[in-house]
Amino acid sequence: MLHVLAAAVFLGSNLLSCCFYCLCEGFVIPFSTSSKLPLDSSKAVVADRTRTREELLQAARDGFRAAFGAPPDPQHEYAAWAPGRVNLIGEHTDYNGGFVLPCALERGTVVLAAGRLVRADAADAGRVRVASMDCRGGDGMLTFAALPEELGPGEESWGNYVRGAIAQYLGDVPEGRALALDMFIVGSLPLGGGLSSSASLTTAVATLVEAVLEGEGWQAPEDARVKARRCRRAEHDFLGTPCGIMDQFASALCPPGHAILLDCASETFEPVPLDDGAVTLVITDSRVTHSLGQRGSQYPVRVAQCAAAARAVGADSLRSAELPALEQEAKRGGMSEVELARARHVVTENERCVNFADALRKRDYDAAGAAMLESHASLRDNYEVSAPELDKLVELAAATDGVYGSRLTGAGFGGCTVTLAQTDAVPALVRRLRRGYKEAFGLDCACFATRAGGGARVLLRPRP
Ligand code: GLA
Repeated sequence: MLHVLAAAVFLGSNLLSCCFYCLCEGFVIPFSTSSKLPLDSSKAVVADRTRTREELLQAARDGFRAAFGAPPDPQHEYAAWAPGRVNLIGEHTDYNGGFVLPCALERGTVVLAAGRLVRADAADAGRVRVASMDCRGGDGMLTFAALPEELGPGEESWGNYVRGAIAQYLGDVPEGRALALDMFIVGSLPLGGGLSSSASLTTAVATLVEAVLEGEGWQAPEDARVKARRCRRAEHDFLGTPCGIMDQFASALCPPGHAILLDCASETFEPVPLDDGAVTLVITDSRVTHSLGQRGSQYPVRVAQCAAAARAVGADSLRSAELPALEQEAKRGGMSEVELARARHVVTENERCVNFADALRKRDYDAAGAAMLESHASLRDNYEVSAPELDKLVELAAATDGVYGSRLTGAGFGGCTVTLAQTDAVPALVRRLRRGYKEAFGLDCACFATRAGGGARVLLRPRP
């Protein structure tokens, strides 16, 4: 009920001004105007227009008031933002110590909270109440105790991202004190669509908790990689997902206007500029999620197959494995054909990722696009994480004039594709994707263009 109420308040109160552009049927509309546009009223549907951070914050304010009966007390009011990410290339390489090349999106999660530390014997010591507008919890509010001896995974998976993120900081709460938090969460990412809605949620909550602790004199580690690692730990421990570091890293650390070439073995990165107005990244949401995906059974299976292939050639990870040695070992019966195919994807994807970064720096978009198409083919044939819907979207994009390359992005089994195109070609591309996808599957895909946004940050904290 609370969600419905909050959504109604939100829908009624938004006069929108758009920050970038909206991809309507056949048009790329540059925005500097204010207009009243319909929002995505259905939870499952993602509007093609990107809501600004300010709009999300306003929605969170409205939602907070509806959920908790009053706005946060300004003395304890905090808000944090963390983006989703799109991975341009380097897929399923992060947990193999390889290279990835994500950039932060302009879509993500805003958390607004009334937060403070209270005495450990106070009535609300450790009390966390969370409400959201995004269907993440179904109806009602999630309430749990953020106390070291009590905090563990609960029933709803969305709640476990929040629990998991907060759990990482319980050791930083001073002796004799406890957190007390009321939070409202608003997001603009398709859930489970391969754009890291989960990492965006975990990282936003972590950023918010850091701000609350800082308000009480705690110092957040200067190295934001610590936060990324904590957020990954949250997913490992509270969701049981053996994910790599890419999503949390991108959400926490990506510099605006850049993708990052991240070496997942050393956890160091180089920024790669993404600032050429002549090209545009278009994300297409297939709106299909096959149950074998990341939260299903296949992600951990891929992780295990890669580990087995690395072990077979005596390598710590596939990062240091060579293709000829892997092939020889498979011939000797030391690994299965399937394990070899998984390893082949990872080894070649690492090369493609580094080459892609080079090509992007040189603005050699033909080379970059070719690498994207090869990456998709390898994910489809060697890694077997594509889906007919994703293959179709890539095929449609690749057949459009002015498109350099396209591929599935994220864990696969549905979700989104990312396409690198000449900016001028975007209207025709979107038209083609929508029509072709509808013809093939009877489904509507959602398309949006994105620039490279920046990593997580605190939006609001009480004035000293
Ligand atoms: C998911 C995981 C990441 C990464 C990708 C595939 O997004 O969370 O760590 O493994 O899949 O590249």
